[in-house]
Amino acid sequence: MTSYIKIFDTTLRDGEQSPGATMTSAEKLEVARALARMGVDIIEAGFPAASPDDLEAVRRIALEVGNPPRGAALSESKGQPDARVPVIAGLARANKSDIDKAWEAVKEAQKPRIHTFLATSPIHMKHKLKMDPEEVVQRVAEMVAYARSLCADVEFSPEDAGRSDPEFLYVVLGEAIKAGATTLNIPDTVGYTTPDEFYKLIDGIIKNTPGMHEGITVSVHCHDDLGLATANTLAGIRAGARQAEVTVNGIGERAGNTSLEEVVMALKTRHAVFGLETGIDTKQIARVSKLVSNYTGIPVQPNKAIVGANAFAHEAGIHQDGMLKHNLTYEIMRPEDVGVSQSKLVLGKHSGRHALRTRLAEMGYSLDEAELDLAFARFKELADRKKVITNADLEALIADEFYRPRDVYHLDGLQVACGTLGMPTATVRLRGPDGKIHVHATTGTGPVDATYKAIDHIVKTPNTLLEFNIHAITEGIDALGEVTVRIQGENGLHTMDAQSEIEHPRVFGGHGADTDIIVASAKAYLNALNKLIIARTEGVEARQHDYGVMLG
Ligand code: KIV
Ligand code: ZN
Repeated sequence: MTSYIKIFDTTLRDGEQSPGATMTSAEKLEVARALARMGVDIIEAGFPAASPDDLEAVRRIALEVGNPPRGAALSESKGQPDARVPVIAGLARANKSDIDKAWEAVKEAQKPRIHTFLATSPIHMKHKLKMDPEEVVQRVAEMVAYARSLCADVEFSPEDAGRSDPEFLYVVLGEAIKAGATTLNIPDTVGYTTPDEFYKLIDGIIKNTPGMHEGITVSVHCHDDLGLATANTLAGIRAGARQAEVTVNGIGERAGNTSLEEVVMALKTRHAVFGLETGIDTKQIARVSKLVSNYTGIPVQPNKAIVGANAFAHEAGIHQDGMLKHNLTYEIMRPEDVGVSQSKLVLGKHSGRHALRTRLAEMGYSLDEAELDLAFARFKELADRKKVITNADLEALIADEFYRPRDVYHLDGLQVACGTLGMPTATVRLRGPDGKIHVHATTGTGPVDATYKAIDHIVKTPNTLLEFNIHAITEGIDALGEVTVRIQGENGLHTMDAQSEIEHPRVFGGHGADTDIIVASAKAYLNALNKLIIARTEGVEARQHDYGVMLG
């Protein structure tokens, strides 16, 4: 059996489908590019049947990320599929219409995959599907065969396998193999199983499914309702699964999915135990984690394994003492292995353009001249206010400058008066889509409230602020403040969940960074509002607009 574990990333499908994690099409494309650069084997780009916008977003990813960079294509690979290009998968319920849409969306990829699913647990078959087990078996055989008539790479998932009868699973999966499925994915949809149980389930499937052979990849897909997703995924891998379905930061419905970084780093750090490899360049993990967090507006909890702000911080005095004597006393991984830089003193006020370019290149950013000009201007502005600029500051600055949609409204100026002596008042100056300057001043319960009210008065896009988070990126009184917000438009746009078939209102995340936390707050809010306006007013066409500046 191969020692290679394929990493199937479903951040853009199972992750993005969770209420509140909506990304715009341009953001999804940028995340897909980052996943491909990091070495993900399969990108599940979305659920094309959810809406024409979702189909279009998957199609763009298939075209642009699922093919070799222009010019590099066939000459380099001599007509063979390019090993560096990821498989692009689209999810479909087990019906012809969904499968047609998934195929429509992924067919332009060099390596397309249709992923279809049908529930197999007694509770799902009876209450959700209202189908007999025999009907389920027949539908799986028919729909896998239909998907296979369109696409050579077909994945089938028996939804809620964790609560299904294993004997019934063997029958269903045997039919899926007969009908042409090439990957059998076993989901613990509701995060119910324990590692021992999940090990037995996967072991039983590999040993007892009729027609199982070396050419079939068994995959695991776990949810974290009991906090066991990573443990279950690793148990499934020990039992012989060779594909792990994961999301960045473990985002996903309810308690989320198995997190990519935990599985990858467990396999790497405990290589002696597992003896298995992935194709992930782990040094890119921290950056991709940040990207997903900024785009979704879902912050990463500080104590989150691998990517949390405290994952490599050793604050307790006793730990620091041990660390200074030898860093392996309390550290099982090196921060640089996941792309967290330890270097503190990076750049200061007198550092030049060249030093900035070099440092950004070391961090993995390749900027063209125009982008570097922008980054340098922001850097100088920051250096005037902050003595020492660390890699973390640079990450935030890059995210703020480049990872955002094109501006509909741009923050041109902001002044606030607050404190105990008067009413908190904000004066906001915005440049509108027509280039005109709009100014409004208003009061509020605090400086952020006043600022947001002034912005609302100008932008006139009613919405509900669902979440507001603020944190300091580095220590010190001059630290950069980073704000993430999530908003939901009134009478807003909706997206459909593939499994529950429930429509959720689309929620837009925004991110802003500045040494002035009110400015950071204003930027984050405008960032989210711009996405909402683009999505609402310009429809599918809007999703085809590129961001103002993109990193390569
Ligand atoms: O959790 C689940 O069952 C899924 C399937 C669609 C694979 O996400
Ligand atoms: Zn799932």
